[in-house]
Amino acid sequence: MIAQVVKHKVSMSIHLKPIVLLMAIFIFFWGCDYARMSEQESIRPYETSIPEMQEGTIPIKGGLQVLREMDTEDLTNPLPFNQTSFDLGKEAYGYFCVMCHGPKGDGNGTVGQSFYPLPANLMSSDVLDQADGELFYTISFGMGRMPPLAYTATEEDRWAIIHYIRSLARVSE
Ligand code: HEC
Repeated sequence: MIAQVVKHKVSMSIHLKPIVLLMAIFIFFWGCDYARMSEQESIRPYETSIPEMQEGTIPIKGGLQVLREMDTEDLTNPLPFNQTSFDLGKEAYGYFCVMCHGPKGDGNGTVGQSFYPLPANLMSSDVLDQADGELFYTISFGMGRMPPLAYTATEEDRWAIIHYIRSLARVSE
């Protein structure tokens, strides 16, 4: 009799095993409901596909590639030098340059000291003798250890910074 009960129990657990296994598999895949994940609001904007472009298409206005291929002589500062552009340049310099080139523009920024070569002294004639367009190009696309800032600072900020650097030099004269 006892043996019979034990046998019954054993056979029960054998029957249960596949059910438990099936449940485990079900719960596992229920957890990875990929279809529902793709329905989230957050990924929708990235799903829009841009229209197919013909091979060799390049932007004719505004694109960085256009700027990269320009002659620096054709680049002139579009901003007039006035209080507004000075203020903008000062603020932007504080965001994008001061840590390397220092508050006086002499290349003594705290982060900059770990660079080799050291950040340029922006008050030196090597820098100041360059035309605005050349400086704009270097600031935009970098040079050696100098990082390209076209991707971080807006075009307006970069031009205003040049006004600011020149006025710093006039003050330190
Ligand atoms: C991460 C540090 C760093 C930041 C941020 C940085 N610079 Fe520089 N910069 C350098 C270094 C380093 C050099 C020297 C590069 C070399 O000689 O290889 C340099 C060189 C220069 C030069 C000299 C180019 C030449 O023709 O000799 C100019 C101009 C300049 N930086 C302007 C700026 C301006 C303006 C900003 C802010 C918009 C800026 N830099 C932000 C590190 C930095």
